[in-house]
Amino acid sequence: MPLFKTINHDVSTTILIWKITETFSELFNEVQLNDKSKLRLNGMKSQLHQCAFLSVRKLLQEVDYTDFDLYYDEFGKPHLKDGNHISITHSHEFAALIISNQKVGIDIEMQREKIIRIADKFIDYEFHYLNKEEPQDYISKLTVIWGVKESIFKIRNEPGISFKNNIKVNSFQMQGKEALAWLHMENLKIPFSIYFKEIDSSSESFQNEQAKQNFILVYAFEK
Ligand SMILES: CC(C)(COP(=O)(O)OP(=O)(O)OC[C@H]1O[C@@H](n2cnc3c(N)ncnc32)[C@H](O)[C@@H]1OP(=O)(O)O)[C@@H](O)C(=O)NCCC(=O)NCCS
Repeated sequence: MPLFKTINHDVSTTILIWKITETFSELFNEVQLNDKSKLRLNGMKSQLHQCAFLSVRKLLQEVDYTDFDLYYDEFGKPHLKDGNHISITHSHEFAALIISNQKVGIDIEMQREKIIRIADKFIDYEFHYLNKEEPQDYISKLTVIWGVKESIFKIRNEPGISFKNNIKVNSFQMQGKEALAWLHMENLKIPFSIYFKEIDSSSESFQNEQAKQNFILVYAFEK
């Protein structure tokens, strides 16, 4: 499938989502890779990971960038040479990126029941408002909170951030599509604006039916 969805969040922030339905060769033949990317691609064990990597390059082309405009720092964080901010995510058949003139992070996650079992590894403060008695809402909110923490981690790119102890997400509603989160580090308290959206993996055209919205896309801006 070509581009799955574009979200023009504001005049200087665009989110692009690719749904991977192509073969490796189809994608490979449509992108130009720099030498480092060729090495990375060859070293990847899973073909799904390779396809996700290539589809991110397809997404870059959608907004007039190429792999040659991108580089990674020592921690694996991607940067654009023109100074715009970029963040990348992939999960199963989806790959997504966000490009902005602000500091941004993005994460896409499949909603899965097993997140309940690991909740206490990344949640502390949020247990004050989460309601375990509503399982679907609980799973959705845990997935959003996980995505928020990954997104903030991707913005800050600092070792030593504890998802459980350093990042707090204020109470939010799934219908609200927005939240506020805080990074607490030593004497710093940094706010982040959060936006999230449920993505139906079958097709956007089913959005108005009762199809399960089984992925959640989260993105964060450092305020
Ligand atoms: C790096 C990390 C954020 C990647 O997230 P993920 O959910 O595994 O994978 P995603 O597909 O969402 O993101 C992968 C992309 O993140 C980006 N990325 C990798 N390291 C990064 C970093 N240090 N900073 C910012 N972005 C980074 C890359 O663009 C990568 O994709 P690419 O290499 O193909 O371009 C994650 O593995 C991590 O280390 N998290 C923090 C550790 C932690 O505390 N975990 C859990 C505590 S309970």
